[in-house]
Amino acid sequence: MKQFSDLSEFLDQAWSLLTRGVVDAKFASRNPTFSTISEEGFPTMRTVVLRRADRMSNCLEIHTDLKTNKVFSLKKSNFAGLHFWIPKAKFQIRASVIVDILTGSEVEADWSRIPMQSRMSYGSVPRPGAEIKGPFDYKKIPQQDCFAILRCNIKELDLLYLGDIHQRAVYKIGEPLVSVWVAP
Ligand SMILES: Cc1cc2nc3c(=O)[nH]c(=O)nc-3n(C[C@H](O)[C@H](O)[C@H](O)COP(=O)(O)O)c2cc1C
Repeated sequence: MKQFSDLSEFLDQAWSLLTRGVVDAKFASRNPTFSTISEEGFPTMRTVVLRRADRMSNCLEIHTDLKTNKVFSLKKSNFAGLHFWIPKAKFQIRASVIVDILTGSEVEADWSRIPMQSRMSYGSVPRPGAEIKGPFDYKKIPQQDCFAILRCNIKELDLLYLGDIHQRAVYKIGEPLVSVWVAP
């Protein structure tokens, strides 16, 4: 029966699951739900790919098209959330994040590593979310100018483990790190 005896071991497990998602396309943490706040104030969710997870800087990264609605929302409010459910590990991770939108020379190195066929995801005419007359009335034109990295700086992590005994903890990221067990 798996149990976590201390808060740092619990946090280690979360980072290990996040890191695996970056390198293993079949692992559940590869595809979190990313939530932003729309101009009208609604929470807005979508599936994304986790591209980077860096424990040292407490940040997670997502790639996107600069012209998507999520980027417009983030320009109004850069408070966002990431949600992961990893069934095999019975582990839920919720991250409250503040997002930096990286573009231009800041993303050149990452752009150069993206395979040609995957660049299709960045550059669409008309822009993603624009109304079109028919279902196929759009073109995908890879454009480096449209490529953005959403750097999600973690402010809080809420971890839930649904083992035989349920466990939950909250980590406020800062100097110092403040962590507490909470009732699941
Ligand atoms: C499995 C999967 C992975 C996706 N990965 C991304 C991604 O990494 N970045 C992204 O911007 N959109 C990704 N999408 C598309 C988004 O879910 C969404 O449809 C799109 O980004 C437009 O969202 P928005 O209008 O809310 O900005 C993915 C969708 C699926 C189903």
